[in-house]
Amino acid sequence: MTAFNTKNGLLHAENVALRDIAEQHQTPTYVYSRSALTETFKRFQAGLLGHEHLICFAVKANPSLAILNLFARLGAGFDIVSGGELARVLAAGGDPKKVVFSGVGKSHNEILAALEAGILCFNVESINELHRIQQVAAEIGKIAPVSLRVNPNVDAKTHPYISTGLKNNKFGVAFEDALDLYQQAAGMPNIVVHGVDCHIGSQITELSPFLDALDKVLGLVDALAERDIHIQHIDVGGGVGITYSDETPPDFATYTAAIMQKLAGRGVKVLFEPGRALVGNAGILLTKVEYLKPGESKNFAIVDAAMNDLMRPALYDAYHHITTIADSPAQAHTYEVVGPVCESGDFLGHDRSLAIAEGDYLAIHSAGAYGMSMSSNYNTRARAAEVLVDGDQVHVIREREQIADLFKLERTLP
Ligand code: LLP
Repeated sequence: MTAFNTKNGLLHAENVALRDIAEQHQTPTYVYSRSALTETFKRFQAGLLGHEHLICFAVKANPSLAILNLFARLGAGFDIVSGGELARVLAAGGDPKKVVFSGVGKSHNEILAALEAGILCFNVESINELHRIQQVAAEIGKIAPVSLRVNPNVDAKTHPYISTGLKNNKFGVAFEDALDLYQQAAGMPNIVVHGVDCHIGSQITELSPFLDALDKVLGLVDALAERDIHIQHIDVGGGVGITYSDETPPDFATYTAAIMQKLAGRGVKVLFEPGRALVGNAGILLTKVEYLKPGESKNFAIVDAAMNDLMRPALYDAYHHITTIADSPAQAHTYEVVGPVCESGDFLGHDRSLAIAEGDYLAIHSAGAYGMSMSSNYNTRARAAEVLVDGDQVHVIREREQIADLFKLERTLP
């Protein structure tokens, strides 16, 4: 599914020329495609039909209410990591009974809110968290469904900042401790053991780490059954990568088939927590070239989007494809595409060959995941607008921030 196609020399989102969006809504603006979101979700689901499953969209990848609502309408559940994300899911019409709650630092109030909402499962990341959930559940007379997030010590072969399945990071409980912790959990009066959870990292482009992790999880499930602890679901986490430049991640059909093959005959429900794979290529960031600044060793294209709008290049040295949205009579040059923020790390792309003039617009591709969700107001920059294109309709799903709003919670001293 390519939602962003060139027609008559103009890059379009579905049936709408990006130039029209830029002119009407200004820049920087995130542009998403409804059909890309829907088609991608359905493609992920296609390999799971006939099996008991739940696709829990990882809200952190893109917490837009409109996008959450769209996935909720398609039957999705949600993977949340904060009380804020829970509130968003509920505001967007998500079903709390399809929500799993991950994250290493769940506070008392977040646990309370999740219990009151009646979520499907807590993905518990430590023994002390288990005790806290037991305590909060006892206080309000509820039973908390839990999975332990186990750390299978598998190398996901991805960027170290987004690899989570290795021994030396903060996530999950050590594999060797899992049996003992499950036995403790099973003995707690306000806890019911529901599943096993495992998430090993993000932007994973090979199948083998997922399957190695699942083998370990299945060994644990068998060991638990021998101790009369029976699991109702296995949560295989998220992490399937997308193509930013030339990566070749496993396609959904291959990935889900390989997982379902391992689960065959077990009669256990399977949960997935995809984030990036569902939204990453369904969005672009539209930006305007403010200045062209030739230099002795580098030419700079200074655009109106910056690291505060799309942090991934600055933070992970991540690659995002950058293209013009209309043919330009300008001559092509090699540019550093940079933003106006006062940091040398504020770049969106290195050494890009672009035929551009000042005032032209650019599309920064694959920006649908961890784009807007990681944006900030650094340099007192208002956050970008977000629009969602549906056929020939453009819906504003988040207005551009107003500068005055950026400091409305602040006070000067008396
Ligand atoms: N489940 C858990 C428990 C997670 O921590 C994550 C992502 C996901 C699911 C979804 O993973 P995905 O399917 O999107 O790979 N900001 C980074 C990515 C951080 C991912 C954090 N956890 C980036 O821009 O690449």
